[in-house]
Amino acid sequence: MERVVSKEEVRQAVLAARREGKRIALIPTMGALHEGHLSLVRAACERADYVAVSIFVNPTQFGPGEDFEAYPRDLEHDMQLLKAEGADLLFTPTTASMYAADAQVEVIPGPLGELWEGAIRPGHFGGVCTVVSKLLNIVQPDLAFFGEKDFQQLTIIKRMVCDLDAAVRVVPCPIIREPDGLALSSRNAYLSPEERRAATALYRALRTAETLALGGERDIALLTDAMRACIAEEPLATLDYAAVVDLATLTEPATLDSPARAIVAVRLGNTRLIDNMQLTTGV
Ligand code: PAJ
Repeated sequence: MERVVSKEEVRQAVLAARREGKRIALIPTMGALHEGHLSLVRAACERADYVAVSIFVNPTQFGPGEDFEAYPRDLEHDMQLLKAEGADLLFTPTTASMYAADAQVEVIPGPLGELWEGAIRPGHFGGVCTVVSKLLNIVQPDLAFFGEKDFQQLTIIKRMVCDLDAAVRVVPCPIIREPDGLALSSRNAYLSPEERRAATALYRALRTAETLALGGERDIALLTDAMRACIAEEPLATLDYAAVVDLATLTEPATLDSPARAIVAVRLGNTRLIDNMQLTTGV
């Protein structure tokens, strides 16, 4: 695996691969890699001939007082993991090279970026869209892989690629979980042992909604109340939101007439966790 820092080196490496007729994949990440990230790398290795991974803790998607400084960073370990998976290129740009001091233009996602995570983290999805656009422009991959773990992010990126005619196919990948259901996240490292135990409340809430939906329950208010009750049972957890949303608009339908997504965000001490699950109607 080749590791490069400059945009010019990325362009040269990708150009060489493209001249060999290779199909190029990109997996954007912020590092502190775990099995969730590695599942994206594996999916990319199956579908592409040249797999590029970026690691960049993007300052513009963190709000004031969020965990930008504290965000876990372990480049040596990340590189070992990526080598073992057979990634071809690792791009680790510097903040100065990604954000020129005189930069002005940003990619603003519109209404989808104002809901849920966007309501709690103003500007977050503008930062995500801007950095993902830049990474897509630098690498120019055929395929870009994103996890369903960040369902709102995935939905917004699909919308952005469509609305801005980006020449890339977005490939969604399923959520990888711990054996007890907790979705893998770099932020799980912040949890105390007690908070780690309490964190299973998110999965319980989602599974409760899933089971009710499969049993034929179509009342969204009832499904949402059931999720809230699961979180309320866990004294260490504070609910930010629990909802059932339309897959494309992320707004709440009145009834579950077609597949929708249950989404949940919870605070455990200083750590925010998000998770989601597909809901399909039972007969
Ligand atoms: P990061 O949180 O590092 O996640 C990188 C990718 O891994 C995202 O597409 C995310 O959805 C996926 N991922 C994380 N945990 C996962 C899990 N348990 N199962 C499956 N996929 C998982 O998301 C970001 O970085 C940033 O916002 C980024 C897109 C890189 C822009 O800065």
